[in-house]
Amino acid sequence: MTTVLVATDKPFARVAVTGIREIVNQAGFELKMLEKYTGKEQFLEAVKDVDALIVRSDIVDEPVIKAATRLKIVVRAGAGYDNIDLKACSAKGIVVMNTPGQNANAVAELAIGMLIFLNRNFFNGTAGVELRGKKIGIHAYGHVGRIIGMIAKGMGMDVFAHDPFVDKIIIENDGVKTVGSIQELYSMCQYISVNLPANKETKESITIELMSKMPEGATLVNPARKEIIHEPSLLKMFAERKDFRYATDVTPDCEAQLKAEYGTRYFATPKKMGAQTEEANINAGLAAARQIANFILKGDNTFQVNKG
Ligand code: 3PG
Repeated sequence: MTTVLVATDKPFARVAVTGIREIVNQAGFELKMLEKYTGKEQFLEAVKDVDALIVRSDIVDEPVIKAATRLKIVVRAGAGYDNIDLKACSAKGIVVMNTPGQNANAVAELAIGMLIFLNRNFFNGTAGVELRGKKIGIHAYGHVGRIIGMIAKGMGMDVFAHDPFVDKIIIENDGVKTVGSIQELYSMCQYISVNLPANKETKESITIELMSKMPEGATLVNPARKEIIHEPSLLKMFAERKDFRYATDVTPDCEAQLKAEYGTRYFATPKKMGAQTEEANINAGLAAARQIANFILKGDNTFQVNKG
């Protein structure tokens, strides 16, 4: 029997698991669940006899691929697939997919929530600042960036974006102003949301050169990945610019120092929370299950990220 394993350190909402089970069973497959596992051995054991795998940020590296002798497809229920060793999968002919856009609204809402939280001083009783009328720059205009722009516009913010991979017309049709370069975006906008995936080009790409361009009252929000920030630059920026604030959904390695020294200028979620809503779990989880059923039953490889 074809077996699908859901292996998630951070569990899906129950309602999403019920939906995944229905899709998997309707396809004639069996569902296995491994949630909140405490050690890699459990993952390696669970993956041994499965045909398909659904994960979130769980690391699918060579040992996992080696242990999964029957595996045909891995679906990352989410956007970023930097947790999956594509080379190891491709070498064994394993198809890798993501579910683009499915959890984007949840991530965008969290980004705006963190901006407000920081600019109201953690709701600690002191006077903060409002976002209305201020400029926000969307660094990378993908699914998440686009929704952040929509929400920000609804809040009366002036929205700018830069993304060399998205047609200017598409961005401007959303009522968002485009700027010619990333440097310009950071120079103009007091608020920046950085929505980049983690890859060779983006790793440590947010440096002091960019951050220091931000106008007075700067807040950088990172609902994306830890690796895109150059941490020595982040520390320098905090030390040099008393107005700078940073909110992130991914704990930096220098968290202890930031927490100890910068109080309400720094906030990180204790665990990656961007996609942790019932709606996002349903959207991404069910999409992952459907994509597996469609691939195994019909050979549909839409959303495959390791083609060719
Ligand atoms: C994503 O890449 O989809 C987000 O970072 C969410 O990650 P998560 O599924 O681990 O919450």
